[in-house]
Amino acid sequence: MQFMRSAIVALAIGASTVASQAAEVKLGVAAALSGLAAQYGAAIRNGFELAAEEINAAGGVNGNTIKLVVEDEQGKKEEAINVYKKLIFQDKVLLIFGPTLSNSASAANPIAQAAKAPVFGTSNTADGITAVGNYIFRNSVTEADVLPVTLKTVVEKEGVKKVAVLYGNDDVFTKSGYDNFAKALKDQNIPVTTTETFAKGDVDFKAQLTKIKASGPDAIVLSALLAEGAPILVQARQLGIDLPFVGGNGVNSVKIFELAKGASDNLWVGSPWSASNDTPENKKFIEAYTKKFGLAPDQFAAQTYDALHIVAEALKKVQLSGDIAKDRAALRDALPDVSWTGVTGPFKFRQAVDKSGKPAGYDADQQPIVSVTKDGAYQIVK
Ligand code: ALA
Repeated sequence: MQFMRSAIVALAIGASTVASQAAEVKLGVAAALSGLAAQYGAAIRNGFELAAEEINAAGGVNGNTIKLVVEDEQGKKEEAINVYKKLIFQDKVLLIFGPTLSNSASAANPIAQAAKAPVFGTSNTADGITAVGNYIFRNSVTEADVLPVTLKTVVEKEGVKKVAVLYGNDDVFTKSGYDNFAKALKDQNIPVTTTETFAKGDVDFKAQLTKIKASGPDAIVLSALLAEGAPILVQARQLGIDLPFVGGNGVNSVKIFELAKGASDNLWVGSPWSASNDTPENKKFIEAYTKKFGLAPDQFAAQTYDALHIVAEALKKVQLSGDIAKDRAALRDALPDVSWTGVTGPFKFRQAVDKSGKPAGYDADQQPIVSVTKDGAYQIVK
């Protein structure tokens, strides 16, 4: 009797599991939740969780519930590859969001392209990420689109005539940031007093900063991730370098205020998202995020929040068949036409090209807003 009852309960649980699985849309999230890039990972995961919760509470997508399969890729190339293989072949997700760093994306995205599994980057801003192929998308605005605007703004507002350059030369994003800064400096006729480099994991930047100080620049152009960018700011201020820093996407996070406490002022960055952007969508997002997580969002959270909404819009147009290959292809085909007004403002895709100039994946078509840090906050530069 006891056995019979258990069997009936087991059958009932089994049936309900099958029913709920049939109504689930599985989306993978590959994020750096540990390691040197984990400063971004928590905000990235929070943005996805909030968007999924809101979409599901409003009835899901065509009645289907979104289920996020979140994996820690540790900000490392090899781990990103392992996580992609698990999400694509084992979990059979429809699409992968991530990974956090361009460095990891450049290693892992070719695997998804070959398997015809769509990828959606929310934080990859280096050149060439979407050149891999037509299954690669991102809503993170590239360094190529943002840095010339940030630089021009600092030059105009601060009367900058010459700059020193400091960048990480062993990371896909920091190297691409350097390439784009170098191009923008040339285009805007701004001489460089010295160019210094560092490597991932470095902790002492005094030698480079001392050379920079001696070269007499009006500002320092910095292409760094938070792990190195924050101590660079701290050590620069310790050396009495009070100049503006012009940064890229890697230092555009509220984490900078914690990691470079007391030394985070006068850092100029650009992004389509700003906490001070007063649209109804953004106000609602900031309020809901702050209530749910007990802390303020940053542009990494904003990008992921919008990314899930963009994918949900595409999914509304997809008749899911249960055949994963067909469903992935249908989602890929639906994505390029999505336009969406989210917390980062009006969004649409722009097709990228591969190395030979042939159409490839899709980048974000959005305008950056320039902000400068002051007293522990980013303030829009008007
Ligand atoms: N924007 C940074 C990157 O692309 C986080 O690696």
